[in-house]
Amino acid sequence: DHVRVFAPATVANMICGFDVLGFAVDHPGDEVAMYRVAQPGVRIRSIAGDDGRLPLDADKNTVSACVKMLLTHLGLQDELGVEIELTKHMPIGSGLGSSSASTVAGLFAINTLLGNPLSKTALMPFCVEGERLACGHGHADNVAPALMGGITLIRGHNHLDVISLPVPTELYAGIVFPQVDVPTRDARQLIKEKVLLKDAVTQWGNIAGLVAGLYESDYDLISRSMHDVLIEPTRAILIPEFYEMKSIALAAGALSFGISGSGPSVVAIAKGEAVAMQAATEIQQHLTAHDIDSFKYVSAV
Ligand code: HSE
Repeated sequence: DHVRVFAPATVANMICGFDVLGFAVDHPGDEVAMYRVAQPGVRIRSIAGDDGRLPLDADKNTVSACVKMLLTHLGLQDELGVEIELTKHMPIGSGLGSSSASTVAGLFAINTLLGNPLSKTALMPFCVEGERLACGHGHADNVAPALMGGITLIRGHNHLDVISLPVPTELYAGIVFPQVDVPTRDARQLIKEKVLLKDAVTQWGNIAGLVAGLYESDYDLISRSMHDVLIEPTRAILIPEFYEMKSIALAAGALSFGISGSGPSVVAIAKGEAVAMQAATEIQQHLTAHDIDSFKYVSAV
């Protein structure tokens, strides 16, 4: 009696929407295989693809901790036994929503194994708790798109209010992960608590413009709107060659370029797969020329 679940990587913030916008990609993603066993309790059988970085202790591992949380919520913690095999297909601390993908896969798996007692909407707060365990802050802009797919807007965090937005058919992402570690916890501490009103006005104009652009499939409007004046200037310093990569992406025809989540991955948003591929390839060549190893992923949004 077992299930296998895949949950995708996600690009949080979608460049201009810090903590409120995010989208899922087709690949990479993490996999959870969950087995129902006779002995009660939640255990990790194995973790692959993490270079030994994740804890096997079921109380410390985010995936198993979230599964336990859900079982406790359902009053099943003393009777149900499950064992987990986690396979990671993306780097940790990369800005691709790695912990979110594992958490969502784990929670979706246990919910499926139990015959879906919770809807996706009801599962969402448990996913957010997983994010909080992983990085100290319960933002939903990775877990929401990982669970729902497509593009999601998190209108409210206090009372979670998640809205799925339309995905224009030709929207593609060229993602490059320069191999330096930027933990979300650290990248959040850098950000200033206060912003200037004029910058806030620019930012919410852009967020509204992007949402309108998605509804209209208006790629020019999407391109004009995807700029971040609040967070990027601070976080860009953690990312090698950031502004050079931006110039390369825009010259290759990308609609926009920015940080994926809290970085260090960067993302070129493009109309069409060919442009996304071109931008990501040229960025990777630039990094190689500067002795920086990288991975690239090109996917439909
Ligand atoms: N919105 C979050 C941030 C996503 O930018 O810190 C990171 O997981």
